[in-house]
Amino acid sequence: MNASSLQSTDSAEQPLDLQSAWDDSRVAEIIDDLERNLVGLVPVKTRIRDIAALLLVDGLRRREGLSTGAPSLHMSFTGNPGSGKTTVALRMAEILHRLGYLRKGHLVAVTRDDLVGQYIGHTAPKTREVLKRAMGGVLFIDEAYYLYRPENERDYGQESIEILLQEMENRRDDLVVIFAGYKDRMDRFFGSNPGLSSRIAHHIDFPDYTPAELLAIAGLMLQNMQYTLSADAEAALRDYIDKRMRQPHFANARSIRNALDRARLRQASRLFAQRGATLTRSDLMTIEAADIHASRVFAAAQAAANQGSGPSIPLAGQQP
Ligand SMILES: Nc1ncnc2c1ncn2[C@@H]1O[C@H](COP(=O)(O)OP(=O)(O)OP(=O)(O)O)[C@@H](O)[C@H]1O
Ligand SMILES: [Mg+2]
Repeated sequence: MNASSLQSTDSAEQPLDLQSAWDDSRVAEIIDDLERNLVGLVPVKTRIRDIAALLLVDGLRRREGLSTGAPSLHMSFTGNPGSGKTTVALRMAEILHRLGYLRKGHLVAVTRDDLVGQYIGHTAPKTREVLKRAMGGVLFIDEAYYLYRPENERDYGQESIEILLQEMENRRDDLVVIFAGYKDRMDRFFGSNPGLSSRIAHHIDFPDYTPAELLAIAGLMLQNMQYTLSADAEAALRDYIDKRMRQPHFANARSIRNALDRARLRQASRLFAQRGATLTRSDLMTIEAADIHASRVFAAAQAAANQGSGPSIPLAGQQP
């Protein structure tokens, strides 16, 4: 083969319009929406754009009859709780649908208990039933490493993994599997299951949010719910985030959502307590500093400081 044979010699070639293929796919809408409604996650968004570009070009190549194997789209999403994995998986399902890689584009989220039975003979039907529901969409397996329990040699998880592997290979044109969970445990899980790991083309890591990102996420959530923070409440929330991040069971954006839900409850109680007074539209919309400061996160941080034992004391009973 000489060098020139690597170049196209067909001068009558039709120009291909990547832009209109992109516009037609309406993936841009989802990507724009992702940019607007997901704070941070820059590396994740970059990977999503790369995957979308790859598939768009793959689609054009297909139409041109250029050799293209069915792309492998199985993924792993690693990151701490509340870092956006489920949210992004939903968007990914939609993108793959719009690009024509998934018939339906729905997401079926499961954990070990949905896949693995308690008794002999129960696992295969359970796993197959889940796979059947997920066909044409995304199967999202949360905390996937619980499928593999090497310490228990008669564990049925292995049976489920084998069926998943088979279907990931045989039905790759109709099913995308996303394995999700903590990074370190997932790395160990893939380390012990090389067959799985080698079938996963895209490993995407979700970083923890910074305090500034968490505040921006709070702002976005409040905006969507048509609430605002007073200036003092914003300062209180900053302080809250700083303290909450150092307490147990912190779960990134999920903790923020929970904190805002409780702040809204307190705002309502506060307004109700003053029900004789005149109320404005702005009162109905505004979260005040008191609504944030009443959180037990502040009490716990104070107690920890008093004990001089660092801020990491368990919060008794209910959620912080
Ligand atoms: N970057 C972000 N910007 C705005 N909201 C976000 C962002 N990430 C997560 N959220 C919101 O935080 C909540 C938790 O996110 P999600 O359920 O996707 O996290 P997760 O990683 O799947 O968590 P878990 O491991 O607990 O299942 C959701 O309400 C989601 O809308
Ligand atoms: Mg989730």
